[in-house]
Order: sequence, then structure tokens, then C-alpha cells
Amino acid sequence: MKNKDKYFMKLAIKEAKKANNEVFPNPKVGCLIVKDEKVISRGFHRRYGGRHAEQVAIDNLSQEITNATMYVTLEPCAHKGKTSPCIDLIDPSIFNRVVISSLDPNPSAVGGIKAILNKKISVTKNVCNIKSKKINPRFFTYHEKKRPYVIMKAALTLDGFIAESNGISKWITNENSRRSVHELRSSCDAILIGNKTALIDNPSLDSHGKGKDPIPIIIDRSKSLKKKLKIFKRTPIVFSGDILKSKPLNNVKIILDELYERNIQSVLVEGGGFTITHFLNSGFFDELHLYYAPKFLGSGISIFNTIRSIKDSSNLILKKVDKFKNDFRVIYKRKY
Ligand SMILES: NC(=O)c1ccc[n+]([C@@H]2O[C@H](COP(=O)([O-])OP(=O)(O)OC[C@H]3O[C@@H](n4cnc5c(N)ncnc54)[C@H](OP(=O)(O)O)[C@@H]3O)[C@@H](O)[C@H]2O)c1
Repeated sequence: MKNKDKYFMKLAIKEAKKANNEVFPNPKVGCLIVKDEKVISRGFHRRYGGRHAEQVAIDNLSQEITNATMYVTLEPCAHKGKTSPCIDLIDPSIFNRVVISSLDPNPSAVGGIKAILNKKISVTKNVCNIKSKKINPRFFTYHEKKRPYVIMKAALTLDGFIAESNGISKWITNENSRRSVHELRSSCDAILIGNKTALIDNPSLDSHGKGKDPIPIIIDRSKSLKKKLKIFKRTPIVFSGDILKSKPLNNVKIILDELYERNIQSVLVEGGGFTITHFLNSGFFDELHLYYAPKFLGSGISIFNTIRSIKDSSNLILKKVDKFKNDFRVIYKRKY
């Protein structure tokens, strides 16, 4: 039974992975319905606000059945959100067992297992839990660490500069690289920059039609930015001296705590160097996306502007390398 459960749960995880960025900020969830050791239906949660995986799998059933087992990668929800509670769909005349991978860490959704047990349906939990949590790093980071999932991105020359000394950075990387950044932006709830980037680049920080636009955030401790900048057209969240302290390093946690309270599950930190440096030093980040172009500057604004020893490590694991014509992108994940 144990190995069979793992086998079917791995298939449910595969199902969950079919979802793309449209699902955010919801988790990717997959569901299988199994009868006499055969998969008779499957489904996944495709987009935010859409049918949950359990609903899709039940809707896909083509026959009337009894004593079936449901395999689902996340504890079925017990609350009414954009859709009805999934536990209402789990009918004891169809199911006699539910196998769950991860428990739902969302405090407003918990209670699923208890409700299923109350229907006299047996429950097995934590099957392939580690594997299934890996498909939802944003969701689990937000609920378990009580902060947004932080992705940092920068465009660099091969010698590690993000701008010329005069602040000019348009454009280090090519159009293909920048298009991929627009996609990344559309997958994030918010996008954060420092005061100098807002002033020098005057960016719009949108996804250029690639999907939803993230909420803009500026760190402007000195409140020196003029309202005519493009970013103010989109009502940004501004972190100023009213809430920030004098030590930039301590401010990273202050900012992330506030974004958690505002239900922001993922944030893309786009720089500049000062901003990225303090996120890096704080350790409060999860991914680093570096786009390199085949250029050298010799001097300029560096991505990292404090001094470290080569013995220091940021605990980064190389996850992916992609080519964008003559540019390349490396994705590192932080190891905890
Ligand atoms: N190539 C790329 O990917 C890329 C991306 C973005 C920007 N850039 C370039 O980077 C340059 C700007 O970088 P930069 O390093 O000079 O400045 P920056 O990081 O854009 O902004 C620094 C300012 O932001 C505020 N700030 C940021 N983090 C803070 C913290 N933890 N606590 C308190 N305040 C904080 C402070 O504002 P106050 O002064 O108000 O205290 C600080 O002086 C521009 O030339 C831009 O073009 C390049």
C-alpha cells in the first residue's frame, strides 16, 4: 500500500506541475482518482480563481463509482474562497479513502482532514510531502516563513557591473533577455526598486503586456522622489523614513514583514546595487536571476557594494542556465 501510495502521489505531483504562472498566488495542486489500482480520472488547478484540482478530477469522472481513493497533493480546503470548499465535493458514496501529500499551511484554509474524517472517509497524509512542497516554493515560503518569496534579478556586464558610473544602464542586455524579465515580472505579485533606480531609470516596472503587472514598491527613505516619475502612475507602495530605520540591513525584514501583512506572496527585487546588496546580506531571499551580456565596463555601479572575503558564502545552488542569443541567464536558489 505504501509504495502504491507513493506511485500514485508522484503521478498527482506530475499533474500539479502542468499548471503555469496563471495559478499564482494559489498553489499548484494535482489530483488523481484511483479505483482497483487504476487511475480513472485526473485534474489540476489551472488558474487563480478557477476550479480546484479535486473539482476537475471529479468532473472528469466518466463513470459512477464507489470505494474509490482520491490522491491529492495538498490538503483539500475547508473554506470558501473564490470557489466552494473542496471537502464538500468529497462524497462518501464515491470515496472511502483520501491520500494527501502536504497539509495546507494557509490558516484560513485548514480543517480539510478533520472534515473528511467526519464523513467516515479514511485519510493518509504526508505521502511524498517533501517532493510536493517543492512545486510550491512561493506558497509554502509565504505561509511557513511569514514573508514573501524573494527573487532578485539583475542585468550585468561580464565584469559584474549593473550600470556605468554615471548611472546609465539602458540597455546592458538584449531584447530577448528583457522579454524574459517581463515574463518573470508577470509571475510576481510585486516588484521592488531603490530610490536611485526610480530616479535615474524612471521605469514603469510593468510586464509589457506579458501578463499581470506586479504592484510597484519603492524604498525611498528620504522621500525625495518627484511624483511625476512613471512609477507614481501606478500607486506604488513607498517605504520611507516613517517606517524604516537607519541601518539598511535591518530594513529588509521591516519591509518583508509589511509585505506579508499586505498578502504579497512573491516579490521581484530589481535593484539597483545598494538595494540588492542589503537583500543579499540579510539572507532574506530565495532566488537570484542574473542576466549576463558580453560587455565589459571596467568601472561602474556594482551589483554588490560591500566587502566580503572569498571564504564567505551565500549558500547558492545553481539551478538553471539559459541562453538568450549572446546573453545568458543563471538562476541560483538559496540553500537553507
Ligand atoms: N542592470 C540592472 O539590472 C539594474 C537594475 C536596477 C538598477 N540599475 C542601475 O542601478 C543604479 C542605481 O543603483 P544604486 O545602487 O545606486 O541605488 P538603488 O539601489 O537603486 O537605490 C538606493 C537607495 O534606495 C534606498 N534604499 C535601498 N535599500 C534600502 C534599505 N535597505 N534601507 C534603506 N534605504 C534603502 C535608499 O534611499 P535613500 O537615499 O532615500 O535613503 C538608497 O540610497 C542605476 O544607475 C540604475 O540604472 C541597474
